[in-house]
Amino acid sequence: MSSPEHPSSARAAFDPDQYDPETLAVRAGIERSQFGEHSEALYLTSSFVFNNAAEAAARFSGATPGNVYARFTNPTVTMMQDRLAALEGAEACVATSSGMSAILSMVMALLKSGDHIIASRSIFGSTQQLFANYFEKFGISTTLVDATDIAAYRAAVRPTTRLFFIETPSNPLTEVIDIAAVAGVAHEAGALLAVDNCFCSPALQKPLELGADIIIHSATKYLDGQGRVLGGAVCGRKAEMDEVLRFLRTAGPTLSPFNAWIILKGLETLSIRMEAQSARALELARWLEKQAWVDRVFYPGLESHPQHAIAMRQQSSGAAVVAFEVKGGRDEAWKLIDSTRMLSITANLGDTKTTITHPATTTHGRISQEARDASGIRDSLIRLAIGLESVADMQRDLSRWLAV
Ligand SMILES: Cc1ncc(COP(=O)(O)O)c(C=O)c1O
Repeated sequence: MSSPEHPSSARAAFDPDQYDPETLAVRAGIERSQFGEHSEALYLTSSFVFNNAAEAAARFSGATPGNVYARFTNPTVTMMQDRLAALEGAEACVATSSGMSAILSMVMALLKSGDHIIASRSIFGSTQQLFANYFEKFGISTTLVDATDIAAYRAAVRPTTRLFFIETPSNPLTEVIDIAAVAGVAHEAGALLAVDNCFCSPALQKPLELGADIIIHSATKYLDGQGRVLGGAVCGRKAEMDEVLRFLRTAGPTLSPFNAWIILKGLETLSIRMEAQSARALELARWLEKQAWVDRVFYPGLESHPQHAIAMRQQSSGAAVVAFEVKGGRDEAWKLIDSTRMLSITANLGDTKTTITHPATTTHGRISQEARDASGIRDSLIRLAIGLESVADMQRDLSRWLAV
């Protein structure tokens, strides 16, 4: 992962092992061209030329390293991968076209028919559908377990279990899973642990340091950070990431260079955004707890959160998603949402603009009422993904419905 500061310079290469995360976020992964550009270049090219047939043959076979074709090699994508790997403390990273294709690529590369997955019940809805509707079709079965019950993970182990998959904190109820404890169970079973680190990002949580083997990202969220592009990534050991890259080279769910460039630049401000958005989330969560019209607030940074202690051990803040139940039901929740003027009514998260969502009728609207009840997603639940506006403005917007 060493990156020449300037190809023609005598300066030593940038060694990511010697720098702090804030520095890695702006400097890791840079590969300068012969022009010595300061800002990372955007290489909008689908293929690369060779000096002769022998060079082409050597590049295609992998005998010599270098770019070949943008389905699996592009310098802008490589820069983004190397920067994210440095931030996660991973040997390697493979970027993908979306968070969902990161999960697809990991499973296609590392599992086979007959294998078994154990996943936490609170994983993202599309991830659940990918496991239940598609992997199942090809003979890979999944058992969903209660996210925070470590004994349930152990009880679900079969001789064919190859992968544990968790997401922490979860969406939308912010359940926090003890990563080190689940890693222990996975490794006892001879399986890998993959953690979807979307809600925290490496700025707040380092799953590999806690024993996870693989990290999944929807780069669409905090890594971009401004709601512009779709992207994803798989990070982990080089041997396993080589397999994921082989799948990408064959099947093509590849990140575009333009999206990689946006995410690469997004990473530069990741830690200060996460810090500022988390601080606002904590202030707003504390305010919500005091409102007479709020039944319950879900935020890992609050002392009242059931897994507050675990969150404070494995995360450096409570992150930026806050959920709460308004007193009443769907009518009250919709009235509150419809009375806002500034907050964005949308299902995305990880943006500098705060978003407000009614999970029961949007993100979780396609699952049955029983499944929603089992997951604790009530009609009165509202999810906020906190951005960078002032907390006072957020409070004013959330209070407008009281005057209607
Ligand atoms: C936790 C989590 N994982 C994965 C995804 C999927 O990411 P993408 O939309 O980039 O495919 C999402 C999207 O909302 C998510 O919230």
